[in-house]
Amino acid sequence: MHIKATLAERLQAAFAKLDLDGPALIQAATRPEFGDYQANGVMAAAKKAKQNPREVASRVLDVLDLADIASNVEIAGPGFLNITLNKTYLAQAEPGAVSPASPQQTIVVDYSAPNLAKEMHVGHLRTTIIGDSVVRILEAQGHNVIRQNHVGDWGTQFGMLLTYLKDNTGDANEMAASELADLENFYRAAKQRFDADADFQERSRQAVVKLQAGDPDILAVWQRFINISMSHCQDIYDRLEVTLSPDHTMGESRYNDDLPEVINSLRKQNLLQESDGAQCVFLDEFKSKKGDILPVIVQKSDGGYLYATTDLAAIRYRTSHLHANRVLYFTDARQALHFKQIFAVAAAAGFNTSNASLEHMPFGSMLGEDGKPFKTRAGGVVKLAELLDEAEQRARQLLKQNNPDLSPEEIQETGRIIGIGAIKYADLSKNRNSDYVFDWDQMLSFEGNTAPYLQYAYARIQSIFARGDIDTRSLPNQAVSEDEAERRLAVTIAGFDDVLQQVTQEGYPHFLCAYLYELATRFTQFYDACPILKSEGEVKTRRLVFAQQTAVTLKRGLDLLGIGVVNRM
Ligand code: ARG
Repeated sequence: MHIKATLAERLQAAFAKLDLDGPALIQAATRPEFGDYQANGVMAAAKKAKQNPREVASRVLDVLDLADIASNVEIAGPGFLNITLNKTYLAQAEPGAVSPASPQQTIVVDYSAPNLAKEMHVGHLRTTIIGDSVVRILEAQGHNVIRQNHVGDWGTQFGMLLTYLKDNTGDANEMAASELADLENFYRAAKQRFDADADFQERSRQAVVKLQAGDPDILAVWQRFINISMSHCQDIYDRLEVTLSPDHTMGESRYNDDLPEVINSLRKQNLLQESDGAQCVFLDEFKSKKGDILPVIVQKSDGGYLYATTDLAAIRYRTSHLHANRVLYFTDARQALHFKQIFAVAAAAGFNTSNASLEHMPFGSMLGEDGKPFKTRAGGVVKLAELLDEAEQRARQLLKQNNPDLSPEEIQETGRIIGIGAIKYADLSKNRNSDYVFDWDQMLSFEGNTAPYLQYAYARIQSIFARGDIDTRSLPNQAVSEDEAERRLAVTIAGFDDVLQQVTQEGYPHFLCAYLYELATRFTQFYDACPILKSEGEVKTRRLVFAQQTAVTLKRGLDLLGIGVVNRM
């Protein structure tokens, strides 16, 4: 249920009756003394109407109809309205339910997109995890979500790699698979040969030309390379429980045919200018401080195309063919200028045919504990597979220490869920705009805003049911709160849907994390104040319902972050 939207609607109706103009500005109350929600829009509306805000607030109160929703509305300060929700309204909330968005949109989400010439590394962790959570929530809201894994599967470095692969394996598939088992080593070896051997260099250049010309032999080697590299990525996706599958791969190579068309179209519209032999688009909005215009290069002097050209073709495809209403791009903040540029060129050239909202969702870097970019001790790139192994090992270690009752099988599986969940949550819970420090102890801590804390809260509720021999299926669906701690928990449970809306509007999963953390905290406060198994009759039933609703919401929320729960830990 959308509490904020409902309150805003009612407030807006009251404003209209009084000829007031402006948004109601509903937000969750910042402190319990301020009720559950507050409306902050009265002051601005009063100012516009040149009236006294407190008087306006009191007239709004007179005409405001919240009888079925609120038990109390009070004027505070210069004209805030503090709203306390009523218990029967709260009881109608269906825990963990996501209401269908309206309108339902076609939303293309561009995320993960590793470079297939190399092994997937930590640089692709954030886009993969954050993008996948937003995708899950958009789908839960009923949008038509189209995942696009814009992998780097084209470009000059493949000339070197394919030549090296051919030299070492001939045409045998199995041999290729074993050569490419460690892509990082393979890349290094190929590069060494390239730097040392002039003949190899020349053959590599020819390979690029052949590849671009669509030579069937070299294309077959390329395809073999891409398949193997992509299957490495798929292993990581599966381990991370990320919803990407090979069907979502739409690599750079897939736009090759459209690249000359992109250039033609720009030329026809007089948007191209030659500069140092390269084809460029100059747009006034990209002026430097000195007044020079920064060009967007779309074709190099040797005829080669660039990252930007491919992204322009992708915009054409996503709007004309996929009919996107929104396109969300999850990449590193360092690509911000690139996206600004291609969005501007696309607008100038009329490429965005479905008039989609093109949104870059940037994120900061993952840092090591020294505050520098995250690397291995030896200064190399951290391989994702090894990072995930370590997370699982550490989680298993912790489980063994914390709970000697767990069987080896439980430790194995629960360790996996907790280890992977910890890594994902550490990323998701931070505002993506900032850099964040990758810290094993923090992310695996059972206290604070962490996955283990939330998973533990869930497991604790399950243990209450187990101790009380409660079959949760026999509990009623709804309960009306009586105690204040129950009511506050019910308010939080009912706020789930609103938070999801905020996440998908702005692409910020950390709002959902903060919500779940608050939910777990509210549950603890409730549990401290309101004994469950020691109470009796209706009181006990009601409290069991709140516990069950908390568990359902925690589980659903974690699921939307791509994180699992366990019954014991
Ligand atoms: N392959 C690029 C990289 O590794 C990311 C691609 C992001 N998507 C896009 N449409 N440009 O940085």
